[in-house]
Amino acid sequence: MTHVALCPSEIRRLSDTDLGGSTAVVFDVLRATSSMITGLSVGVAEIYPVKTVEEARAWKMKDPDLVLAGERGGLPLEGFDIGNSPYEFESLSGKRVVMTTTNGTVSIQLVRNAATVLIGSLLNIDSLAEHLSQKRPPVLLLVCAGTGEEFSLEDAIAAGALVSRLRERDDLTDAALSVKSLYERFEDHLEEWLFQTENARQLEKLGKGSDVHRCAQLSVYDVIGVLRNSAVVALRDNAIQGGLQC
Ligand code: MLT
Repeated sequence: MTHVALCPSEIRRLSDTDLGGSTAVVFDVLRATSSMITGLSVGVAEIYPVKTVEEARAWKMKDPDLVLAGERGGLPLEGFDIGNSPYEFESLSGKRVVMTTTNGTVSIQLVRNAATVLIGSLLNIDSLAEHLSQKRPPVLLLVCAGTGEEFSLEDAIAAGALVSRLRERDDLTDAALSVKSLYERFEDHLEEWLFQTENARQLEKLGKGSDVHRCAQLSVYDVIGVLRNSAVVALRDNAIQGGLQC
């Protein structure tokens, strides 16, 4: 089965089910998962996604070497080292990061019991598709993190970009079929559409329009992010060859 969870309430429902046989791919295009993929591509060693600001601060207290990252309402938090902009993750080579965001890190936590949790973004979509085509997981669950309690168009478009590339899969649910056709309708004007979304408009108001431009780039990185224990790390080639459960 290839399914797409389109909004936070569905993700919460899924978290109460047995995800042990599933591969989940979490998308929070604006911006959490795009920032994670950017960080991993420049050599960030580990990113710990946590649900709450308090948890993130507690991690930093215990381990002051961690970079404390995240946002609420799109803005950096008091006392944090950085916010949630992909540009801020570019200068963190070799660092370990603890990160909390409104929806992205929460969604990762909600599906952490899946057999494999991968980090989705437009930035690495071709590599992700290639990896999943090789692995052929029997249950593929694309998780659209949304915004607050709501559906986000940019996450659905990115999930559709992945489904559209997985041509061999003939097990699409109606939700997967709809994101695929959504993407195929928008693909020639992807950035233009992304700028029309509620999240993009909000980020523009905050002076973060360049983040939207950045997160809209297709396949500029080939890194794949995977949740290993509590940390998002880059999946290495030998792990792909060696048959990571997926
Ligand atoms: C989130 O996790 O809700 C987003 O990444 C929010 C943001 O980047 O402002």
